[in-house]
Amino acid sequence: MITKDCIAEIEAAARIEEVVADFVPLKRAGKDWIGICPFHDDKNPSMHVSPRLGIYKCFVCGAAGGPIHFVMEHEKSSYPDALRYLAAKYHIEIKEEKRKLTPEEQAANDEREALLNVTAYAEKYFVDQLFNSEEGRQIGLTYFQERGFREETIRKFRLGYCPEGWDKFTTKALEDGYKLDYLLETGLTKKSENGRLHDFYHGRVIFPIQNGIGKPVGFGGRILAKTKTDKIAKYFNSPESIIYHKSDILYGFFFAKKSIRTNDNVYLVEGYTDVISMSESGVENVVASSGTALTEGQIRLIKAQTKNITVLYDGDAAGIKASLRGINMLLAAGLNVKACLLPDGEDPDSFAKQHRDSELRDYLAEHTVSIIQFKADILMKDAGNDPLKRAAVVNDILGSIAEINDDIIRSFYVRECADLFKISEESLNANLRQLVWKKINDARRQPSFQSQPNSQNPTVPQGTTPPTITQPDESQQLPKVLTPALTQQKVEVNHLDLVEFDVIHLLLKCGMYETHISQTDEAGNAVICPIRVDQYVFNEFHDDEIVFQNPLYQQVYEEYAKIAQKAESQEDLEHAFVVHENEKIRNLAVSILMEEEPEYSEQWEKRFELHTNNITNSVQSLNTELSGCINLFKLRLIERHKKLLLNELGFEHTDEEQRQIMERLVELDKLRKKLADLLGMVISQSDDSAN
Ligand code: CTP
Ligand code: MN
Repeated sequence: MITKDCIAEIEAAARIEEVVADFVPLKRAGKDWIGICPFHDDKNPSMHVSPRLGIYKCFVCGAAGGPIHFVMEHEKSSYPDALRYLAAKYHIEIKEEKRKLTPEEQAANDEREALLNVTAYAEKYFVDQLFNSEEGRQIGLTYFQERGFREETIRKFRLGYCPEGWDKFTTKALEDGYKLDYLLETGLTKKSENGRLHDFYHGRVIFPIQNGIGKPVGFGGRILAKTKTDKIAKYFNSPESIIYHKSDILYGFFFAKKSIRTNDNVYLVEGYTDVISMSESGVENVVASSGTALTEGQIRLIKAQTKNITVLYDGDAAGIKASLRGINMLLAAGLNVKACLLPDGEDPDSFAKQHRDSELRDYLAEHTVSIIQFKADILMKDAGNDPLKRAAVVNDILGSIAEINDDIIRSFYVRECADLFKISEESLNANLRQLVWKKINDARRQPSFQSQPNSQNPTVPQGTTPPTITQPDESQQLPKVLTPALTQQKVEVNHLDLVEFDVIHLLLKCGMYETHISQTDEAGNAVICPIRVDQYVFNEFHDDEIVFQNPLYQQVYEEYAKIAQKAESQEDLEHAFVVHENEKIRNLAVSILMEEEPEYSEQWEKRFELHTNNITNSVQSLNTELSGCINLFKLRLIERHKKLLLNELGFEHTDEEQRQIMERLVELDKLRKKLADLLGMVISQSDDSAN
């Protein structure tokens, strides 16, 4: 492991413009540099390199990051390799540390190593048997060849054969010095009740299962067709072990990774042979779930490579309905899910084999549909003309849509569903809303969702020392009874979103600058107090228990609190954001901080006809803008809440809930009036419906 100090040294030395210039010719453009972006097919120089922020950003494809990131992306290298490259460039000596492991860690490590050694040995043994033994060639290799696998493919997937006879493999492994314990733990060897050892896979062809870096961690052993009986399972599979966590491994993933990335899509199939046949036909971005629904861990693996997944279904409708249930999890994980149904009686393996590569590709391209369309097709066939059954299908599909967290995608699916079933979007949305409301209520019953009242209210600090930042604490984020519903209720791009953006914009661009606000002292005199912009925002938000409706902005806000505590200057702060580990936060920060002109929210000026100078240049005038911005924010928030609450009244609630809604409405109205007074705005009836 490269030491933290060494990494810091490299980070400090690496100048983004120098690092990028080694790969891409750069031209000066004002304070920045520009060049042809290497991450997409760029014609004009779309990539900006900012020495001030220490990052590059392409305004077309959105690629962005610091020097280390650039090297990793450009060279497709790992983090340590990128560090090594930069260290060499800047003549920094790489310092690595070998932390001393605790005895337990050492033992676990040793065991892991030992198990990996055993499985690597076994893989090699099985491959060797397949190609180099009489029995292996006659039985195993012939079997694979009859299934149409080419030798190249057999070698790529390292398929093998375990010989007949009880314990040939085990005997050899023991002879070669592998410990029995490890052979048993990996399931390669079994011990019968009378203590006799035997090879788990004897007389079977072997499909090794590789982990993410290509090491075999488990095996599937297939019985040969000839000896097949119904009593014995077609496949024997390795048991869970410390090297083989089934829920974190996908068959074929190691071989598919690169292709998944280049195609920005992954095909999900059921079995070993489906993966192998499709890969042989040139569709290499394919993985198998091994006949079960995907787990969270497996979804995570996929999401690191692509957001697009296409599930391939066998052309016999039998298993489809059951497996459709697993789909909601994929949607909830934020994946863009599509499906493709193979012709009657075909599975990916047989289809790939019986068609040309180009036919397979064409079929996939032509028959892949959105998961909504797919569900509708399958389920509606059964429902026929029965209106009740049809309604149930619509509800089922809405249930899937309700799992999607992205408003835009969600509304896209609602539209698709409306077209498909000839039902108005409005009534679908009403149903969807109820499902979401139910989901929220179910979630609220879980303890993690409960909020506690918080009595502390930090006050505006006096004096010139930089005020400490009060972190918005967890319990404050879901304050009043109905807020969870409100914060989750999704709306189109609206006024509030823009105002929220303004606040984030303000924090990122000038959060650490100082401004002055006027306060009344004990004697009733107005005094001018210095205060940092961020402190002002935090105080305002904290006092009124405000949270952002846009989850990303809320996240940025919380991150800001953490980062600002450590940052020593505005520059520090900006840097921390543009290299932030969370991609969404990083991208938002980059887009705000790399705006051509550091001009403060022109939009805002236009919308509200307030006087805004270039705010970062005239810190003195911040005061008006700041309070205006915040108060406007609050006002919009209140209006939004009010609208949602009014909407809420149209649905069925218990008396208690009803009372809470009314109470909250009255409260909001009071606040709203107060703020409007402050802003000098006249609130008319039409304002109620304008938003
Ligand atoms: N599977 C299993 N045990 C079984 C049957 C199936 O573990 N008794 C798993 C295997 O991972 C298998 C997948 O479920 O790959 C899909 O099953 P199936 O389609 O029956 O197997 P195929 O891999 O397609 O094998 P074949 O084409 O040789 O029948
Ligand atoms: Mn099959």
